[in-house]
Amino acid sequence: MSRVVVTIDGPAGSGKSTLAPELASRMGWSHLDSGALYRVLAWLASRRGLDLTTTGTSIIHLADEVGIDLQRTATSQKFLVGGEDVTEGIRAPEVSHAASHVAKLPEIRDWVVRRLRGLADQSPDGVVADGRDMGTVVFPDAILKIFLEASADERARRRQKELAERGYEQTLDTVRMELLSRDDVDRNRAHSPMVPAKDAIHIDTTDCSVAEVTARVEKLIRRAVDDNNTQTNENAS
Ligand code: C5P
Repeated sequence: MSRVVVTIDGPAGSGKSTLAPELASRMGWSHLDSGALYRVLAWLASRRGLDLTTTGTSIIHLADEVGIDLQRTATSQKFLVGGEDVTEGIRAPEVSHAASHVAKLPEIRDWVVRRLRGLADQSPDGVVADGRDMGTVVFPDAILKIFLEASADERARRRQKELAERGYEQTLDTVRMELLSRDDVDRNRAHSPMVPAKDAIHIDTTDCSVAEVTARVEKLIRRAVDDNNTQTNENAS
């Protein structure tokens, strides 16, 4: 089977980061967390004191010079910057904010897109890619595109819980404001804004359990894989 891609896009807190790795694992595929790459670049730029809004090319030069590596195992992935493990560090709230600013820069987006496509090509069977523009820009040929949504209050609650589990205590109001400000930047930027692909299936996860959404999307993936196999066989005969 040639590799197939399923994309899961949507705003922060909509459930992508829980759903995507779980589905990849159920399918025996790879998970591509595109947001993590923007976070890594933002982390590096902030660490080196680079201006986050104007210096896409300098950030990329620095990234190529220092070396950004992704180590994947069946159950986890680690991000290394110049050999330093930043997997946890890139989840800090200030990095989320910085990531949405570097993600506006076209040179940064080109670099991330190339990297993601390269990683997908190394995945023999299938890929579940999550982010903001996976279905629209990075993998327009995906066999299934999902766009997740949830109310701002519910997203803020989920994000607050996730941050607390990582040791960052923030009020619900602070988290909510941060989410809405990131949504605004992500939706309104000139390059690859966060918009659902025309052929995406929208799922509102506000009142759904993780188990319900996972089961529903797994069913959709299996059906899309079957349809894709049928199509491939028909084209071959
Ligand atoms: O998904 P996550 O919250 O880790 O993403 C961090 C930031 O990276 C987002 O707020 C967004 O600005 C940027 N991003 C993006 N395109 C993607 C994934 C993430 O612009 N495909």
